[in-house]
Formats: sequence, C-alpha cells, structure tokens
Amino acid sequence: MQSRIASLASLSIVVSIAASAACAPCFAWGDDGHKIVATIGTAMLTEDAQKALRDILGDETVADAAVWADKMRSDPQYTWIAPLHYINVPRNATSLDMARDGNGGVQVVSSIIKYRDILKDTSKPKEERRLALRLLIHFVGDLHQPFHVSYKEDLGGNKLSVQSFGKKSNMHKVWDSELIRRRLNDTKGGWATMSADLRQSITPEQLKKWTASGDPAVWANEAFSITRLLYRDAPDARTGVDDAYFQRWQPTLNECLKVGGVRLGTLLNDALAPGSAKAAKDAKAAKDAKSGKPAKDSKQQAPKDQAPKEQAPRDQAPASTPTAPKSGNTAPKQSGAPE
Ligand code: ADE
Ligand code: ZN
Ligand code: ZN
Repeated sequence: MQSRIASLASLSIVVSIAASAACAPCFAWGDDGHKIVATIGTAMLTEDAQKALRDILGDETVADAAVWADKMRSDPQYTWIAPLHYINVPRNATSLDMARDGNGGVQVVSSIIKYRDILKDTSKPKEERRLALRLLIHFVGDLHQPFHVSYKEDLGGNKLSVQSFGKKSNMHKVWDSELIRRRLNDTKGGWATMSADLRQSITPEQLKKWTASGDPAVWANEAFSITRLLYRDAPDARTGVDDAYFQRWQPTLNECLKVGGVRLGTLLNDALAPGSAKAAKDAKAAKDAKSGKPAKDSKQQAPKDQAPKEQAPRDQAPASTPTAPKSGNTAPKQSGAPE
C-alpha cells in the first residue's frame, strides 16, 4: 500500500511536471530555428574567430550551444535567464523605445549587448565567456523571431490560441517551430539542409543591408514591425494556420532566419577576433587585385564553408554561391485584427 501511494504520488508529480512543461510559455525559436541561425552565423566566421570559438566551446557543437539556454530552463540555477529571451512593447506603440521598454536591462536587447561585452573581454574566465557565447548565439536567434518582440498581455502570442495545421496551438509556437516544421516536412533534409539552402540564397547586397546596423535595438525595431503585421494578419479563427498562411509568410520566416544568422556571424567575428573580418577582406581584395578579378562592392563575404552534418559535432557550412533572392517579403493581407 505504502509503495502504491508512493508510486501514485510520483506519477502525479510526473503528470504535473509534464502538464506544466506543456503549458509553460515558450521562450524561443524551436531547436531547429536556433540551430539554423547559429550555423548560418558561424559559417561566416574568420579563421581567428573560429579558433577562439573552438577554444571557448571545446567539444560542444554550435548547434548544442544554440539551444543550451532552452535546455537549462528547468534548472533552478538558471531561472534568471527566462525574462532575457524577449522584450515587450506597449500594445499601442508603433515602435520600440528602449527608455520605455528597457525593463531595467532585463530583456533580450540589453542582454545581447551585455554578453557580447563579456565575450569580448579576454581577461574574463573562460567559463564566463562560454556562458556569454551560448547566450549570445541563442538570444540573437530569439530577437529575430517576431513574437519575441511583442506584447506582455498575451505573453508574446503564447496566449493566442490557434488551430495550426489542424492541431491546437498558439501563435508564438507557430512562429517558434511549426512553420519551420512545415517547411522541413516538405523537403528531404533537416535543419542543416535548410540552413545550407538559406545561406546559399544570401546575396552580397543583402549581407551589406542586414549588417548596416550592429545595434540590437534597431534589430528589435525591425522585428517589431513584422510583429505588427502578424497581428494584423491574424489567422482566420475557422481555418487557423493553414497552407495559405504558410505560403504567405514563408518568405518572411526565411528572411528572419537569414538576417539573424548574418548578424550573429558579424557580431561573433567582432567579439571573438576584433579586426579579423576586415583583415580577411583586405587580404582577399589584395589577392583579387593581383589576379585581375574585379573588386566586390560588398564589405563582407557571404557565409561559406561546408554543410553542417545534422548530428555532426562540428559546425561548418557549404560553399555559398550567392544567388538572386527568390522573392521579397510578401506583405500579408490585412484582416482588421486588433493592433
Ligand atoms: N513572455 C512574455 N512576453 C513574451 C515574449 N514576447 N516571448 C516569450 N515569452 C514571453
Ligand atoms: Zn529563447
Ligand atoms: Zn519563442
């Protein structure tokens, strides 16, 4: 009897833990989104930055580092990280205002600046820089998921229930993972293939445009303008998130992942090996001049390397041949949903 009570008690603990995990607000791109952003970013690293990253991460893959902040969420030692994954903006605001929305530095924008500075500081202990690197890789991804720059009242869309491809879901989850899952179901490969495909479609002009500002507050504002469009294009209550919604928003989703990756790569080059991106660019220009190749107008190189293997421990990406962008952002139809 005693043991039956004990096992019932432990079962109810398991059930309530499972239930609370299922109900807990979601805090991030799903694993796939984070891994895609991280591998696009680290494919851009200079040799010196790669070395520094390897020295800090040891055997940990970039993909694992990217999702570390989510895996640690239930560890009481790391609950302080929970409010750092997002930033909230008042419902009636048309843009972000850090003086108003900064929440005493406890949000994703200030966290990116804080952990970038720690990563940059080589006098800091390696452990501290490893935590900073894991958080940075994760938070730059989060900041490019529009619902992470959103409204407090609905917990960044976590409370916006919606049918998604026939299943009960919410808008935050749709953008964290379900649209990416839908895309992965369409194609043969997993996240690494999707990462390589996206990376190869980045043009030098996009690279230049997306890295024009290194200020995470500017990035957050861009994300927020997408968020506002997403609230206006709320899925129909009857049909929910369906194929038409997916088709309409897929270009935006892809661009969010690419922009996040490119900005992450630029930020990591600067934090891990300051000056190395410029040195690599100058060396390439000198080499090209010698061989008579015309100089590129882009300041940065598009991400290249070798494709990351889905489960592989290292983090390389395939040679990129930048191609023309397939299509620009499709402005969604406005449905008159609340703003
Ligand atoms: N909780 C409150 N706001 C949130 C947001 N924008 N994203 C994730 N979780 C949240
Ligand atoms: Zn997150
Ligand atoms: Zn999320």
